[in-house]
Amino acid sequence: MNISQLQQEILRMKKEQDVCILAHSYVAREISEIADYTGDSYGLSVEASKVTQRTVLMCGVRFMAETCKILSPEKRVLLSNPIAGCPMAEQMDKDMIEAVKAQYPDYTLMAYVNTTAALKTIADVCVTSSSAVKIAKALDNDKILFIPDCNLGAFVAKQVPDKTVKLLQGGCPIHAAVRPADVDAAKALHPEALVLVHPECVPGVTEKADYVGSTTGIMAYAKQSDAKEFIIGTEISIAEHLQYDCPDKMFYPLTKHLICPNMKSTTLVDVYRVLRGEFGEEILLDDETIRLARRCIDNMIALGG
Ligand code: 13P
Ligand code: SF4
Repeated sequence: MNISQLQQEILRMKKEQDVCILAHSYVAREISEIADYTGDSYGLSVEASKVTQRTVLMCGVRFMAETCKILSPEKRVLLSNPIAGCPMAEQMDKDMIEAVKAQYPDYTLMAYVNTTAALKTIADVCVTSSSAVKIAKALDNDKILFIPDCNLGAFVAKQVPDKTVKLLQGGCPIHAAVRPADVDAAKALHPEALVLVHPECVPGVTEKADYVGSTTGIMAYAKQSDAKEFIIGTEISIAEHLQYDCPDKMFYPLTKHLICPNMKSTTLVDVYRVLRGEFGEEILLDDETIRLARRCIDNMIALGG
């Protein structure tokens, strides 16, 4: 079967089986073409809370499939490729954060969505890269304990200077590896280009950017901008998607190392095999985890909307 025949077969099976396919912005184009919705973590969370189909198939990483299950516990939620994790989500566990929380009893525990379901059970509010600043501003507490991404946390702290934001040393190994010198080198090669970066990059990088935002935010900014050239400081797929969507503009990855092997692990064949019942993993969480973890995600949707 070629790609288009595979896509037709997936579309037929998903309708027949009443499946909603949700895809993160980073996944391959041939997957987003057959998805019901493609977007950033915030958009995926909102869509997950509204799904009408009986089954949700998440093409992305594990923490998003778990978030989907927490928001739609009555649905069957499948992760397309079980090896698709996120190293940042595994950096801090519940016991460790409970101990830190005890040291800061009057702080609101704000957890990036890139965390495990177990860790979400003790968080007060969840955030995504596109909603974090808005939620931090809306919070009725001026003390925030931000986990696990110290770079996103530092970005939030800078946008909300009237609040105290405590950070722990976690982060995305892919985005945090980008150096300020990489921005200088990319700008030297493309002096007319605007620099658009994800807030998971270190402060020295975000400070040099023309725009800082989520994957959806970066794509929207580039599409509506009058500029013709852009340096894209997030996973390399976003530059590729933008190049297809806007063939009259030029998109350059900030570095060739911005590749997330976890996001790349899901393929169109995986999706096909999941629908044939041969692959994938059903996300199973106990009722207590779902009940406790839901609180911080509901708070995110209420404050971030
Ligand atoms: P978004 O908030 O843009 O979905 O980013 C999530 C992520 O994992 C970035 O690496
Ligand atoms: Fe996790 Fe980083 Fe990959 Fe995003 S890019 S899924 S934060 S490892």
